[in-house]
Amino acid sequence: MSQDFIIFGAPQIERDEIDEVVRCLESGWIGTGPRVAQFEKEFAAYKQHPFAAAVGSCTAAMHLSVVAAGLGEGDEVITTPLTFCATVNAIIHAGATPVLADIDPVTMNIEPAEIKRRVTARTKAIVPVHFAGRACDMDAIMEIADRHNLKVIEDCAHAIETEYHGRKAGTFGDFGCFSFYATKNVTTGEGGMILARHEDDLARTRILALHGMSKDAWKRFSDEGYKHYFVIDSGFKCNMMDLQAAIGIHQLRRVEDNWKRREVIWNRYNDAFADLPVTLPASPEPSTRHAYHLYTLLIDEAGAGLSRDDFLEAMTANNIGVGVHYLSIPEHPVYQERFGWRPRDYPHAMRVGRETVSLPLSAKLTDREVSYVVEAVRNVLSAKSKGRRTDGLRARSRVQHANACLGT
Ligand SMILES: Cc1ncc(COP(=O)(O)O)c(C=O)c1O
Repeated sequence: MSQDFIIFGAPQIERDEIDEVVRCLESGWIGTGPRVAQFEKEFAAYKQHPFAAAVGSCTAAMHLSVVAAGLGEGDEVITTPLTFCATVNAIIHAGATPVLADIDPVTMNIEPAEIKRRVTARTKAIVPVHFAGRACDMDAIMEIADRHNLKVIEDCAHAIETEYHGRKAGTFGDFGCFSFYATKNVTTGEGGMILARHEDDLARTRILALHGMSKDAWKRFSDEGYKHYFVIDSGFKCNMMDLQAAIGIHQLRRVEDNWKRREVIWNRYNDAFADLPVTLPASPEPSTRHAYHLYTLLIDEAGAGLSRDDFLEAMTANNIGVGVHYLSIPEHPVYQERFGWRPRDYPHAMRVGRETVSLPLSAKLTDREVSYVVEAVRNVLSAKSKGRRTDGLRARSRVQHANACLGT
C-alpha cells in the first residue's frame, strides 16, 4: 500500500486547541497571563498536587529546579546515561557536576545499586528519568536520598501519565519536571511544567523563570494598573506564554483518551512482533502505570540480520519516521572531553543506545497507519533474518537480553 511519510511523534491537534489559540490572539494578551494560570491549575489537579509552575521547556524546568534546590559548584548530581542531553546540561548549567549511574538493562531506568556505588561526600542530588514513561524504582531511590540527605529532581519528560505504587510521577522528589515539546504526550509546541514538594521552592522557580522579578511581575501591565516590581534574584527568561497554554489546556483534557489509544497501539505492536528476532519493551511492572511514551525495539545485528542503523534506513525508505532514544550520554564528544566519560564504562546504556529504535506511537496514528508500520517492520526483519536463526523466531525477553548484556 502507498503511504505518505508518517511523522515520528506527530501531535494530535484538534479544533479546540485551534479555536483557543485564535481567542487568545484576539484577546490581545498573548504572553504569560490567565491561560497560563489556568493550565497550571488544571495540570496540578491532574497530578493530584496542590501547585505547579509553567515554564518554556522541560530543559528550563530542570535547570530552574537544580538552581532552586541550591545545587551548584562542587556539588555532584547522579543521573542516568540513557537520557536526552538536556538532563545532563541542566546540571552543568547550574554549575554542578553530573555523575552517571548505569541503567537496569530490562527497565532501561537508572539502577539504584549503581546510584549507591556513585554516592560520595560531595553528592547532593539524584535526577532519575522515567524512561519511555516507565516509572523508576522510586522506593529504592527515595531511600538512598533519605539516607544521604539528597535532593531528588524527577525528569518526567516522558511521564505525564506515569504512576508508581498509586502515586503520580513527579510528586516523589523535591521537584518534578515535565515536557510539552512537540512529540510529547501533551504538547504546547514547546513548554514545560514544574511540580515542587514545597511551595516556597516552586515560588523561587517562578521568580527565576522571569528575570528574578518579584512575585506576579507578569501582571504589571494588567487592567489593575501598572505595578512596580523589584529584581530579587539574578534570574532567567523562560516563562510560558498564554499562546502555548491555549494549546496545553485542551491537550490536557484529552490526555487520558490519548493514553488509551497509545496503549492499544503498544499492545498491537507487542502481538505483531512477538515472533521476530528483536527485543520488545518489558511489560509494565505491577502497581505501576506506564505512560507509553516510547515503543522501543532493540535490534541486535547478530540476531536480527541487520544493524540498528540499517533498520532505521529501511524504515525511512518505507516512509516511516523513527527515533533513537538515546545514544548513551558518554557517546557524545562534549562529555567525553569534559568529564572523561567512555561508553564502555556504562555498558547497559551503551548497548541499549546502540541497538534501540523507537517506532511511531502517537495517538494521531490511524489503524491503517499502525498496520502499515507493523507490515513494514515485519517485512524488513523477516527478510533480513531469514536463514540466520534456526532456534525459533521468538522475540527475546528482556531478561534474556539482560543476561546477554552481562555475558551470562
Ligand atoms: C528525558 C528528557 N528530558 C528532558 C527533555 C527536555 O525537554 P524539552 O524539550 O521540553 O526542553 C527531553 C526532551 O525530549 C527528554 O526526553
